[in-house]
Amino acid sequence: MAASVRQNTQKVTFNDGNQIPLIGLGTWKAKDEEVYLSVKHALEAGYRHIDTAAAYGNEEPIGRALKDSGLKREEFFVTTKLWSNAHNDPVGAINSSLEKLGLEYVDLYLLHWPVFLNPNGFPERVPLLPDGKRDIVFDWSFVKTYELMHDCVKLGKAKSIGISNFSVKNMKKLMAAPETKITPVVNQVEIHPHLPQFALADYCAQHNIKLQAYSPLGSNGSPLLKDETLQALGEKYGVSPATIIFAWFSKREIVFLPKSLNKERLAQNLLTVDLSDEDVETINNIHKNFSKRYNDQDWSPIKPFEEDE
Ligand code: A2P
Repeated sequence: MAASVRQNTQKVTFNDGNQIPLIGLGTWKAKDEEVYLSVKHALEAGYRHIDTAAAYGNEEPIGRALKDSGLKREEFFVTTKLWSNAHNDPVGAINSSLEKLGLEYVDLYLLHWPVFLNPNGFPERVPLLPDGKRDIVFDWSFVKTYELMHDCVKLGKAKSIGISNFSVKNMKKLMAAPETKITPVVNQVEIHPHLPQFALADYCAQHNIKLQAYSPLGSNGSPLLKDETLQALGEKYGVSPATIIFAWFSKREIVFLPKSLNKERLAQNLLTVDLSDEDVETINNIHKNFSKRYNDQDWSPIKPFEEDE
């Protein structure tokens, strides 16, 4: 089949009216010069959406790459995230992120995980207890954290706010709380054909909340690219299996955040094709034979995703 391959310029509109490019550059685990170059090459290739987080420790080089691009502020979209050790002070945390990024505001600020870690613990980023478990603050609710994040919008520090790593159960709790005056615009979670997240997608659609997919290729080693069904579809359309996965996100209107440090792959990931409904259905069914969450963090005794699995 000669598929018409083109650059993906699709955007998605949030429930607050703001818009986000469907493809964004993921930057988890990328640091210093390598993330600077990844962002620089991505912007040169046409990316206009960069996803980072305070916890990634790379906001400063990303900010430099954005500045050096010469693009005007309104020409690109930046997301960063509130790390778990600062749930009691989102405004202080966003100020620190903005300073590192060299920006006046971010387009999107996400509550990174629904778990509060000791803000005075050690080590600072992921404080631990003597038994090696994460030092969790139990007499606190993510409802309170999200309520405090409303101030980031009121103060003009974030254009939109949302959540990340929320299960349906936790989303229901957040949405039912009277303190939640601003509906999250997105929930950013791991999504790919081995973890399609259909139940979460149904819940989000009911509330006009968009999904964002991290690890769209399965993260380290990009295991999704070894999937035989996706490889066969890649051959059918004459594109890489990565393009097939990204085209599936386009069909589902899910924002996706592939990461690459390689200039050619960065450019390749901007490409998309139109999948037939039948092929979308084939991809939708892959998880029935093989499903896997590739990023599993140990928040024990809390299991953020338990009830959705
Ligand atoms: P690299 O930086 O060498 O390109 P994810 O987006 O799921 O986190 O996956 C990221 C991994 O997939 C990275 O290791 C990245 O390696 C690799 N990758 C990204 N895009 C492609 C692609 N188009 N083809 C093959 N591997 C890719």
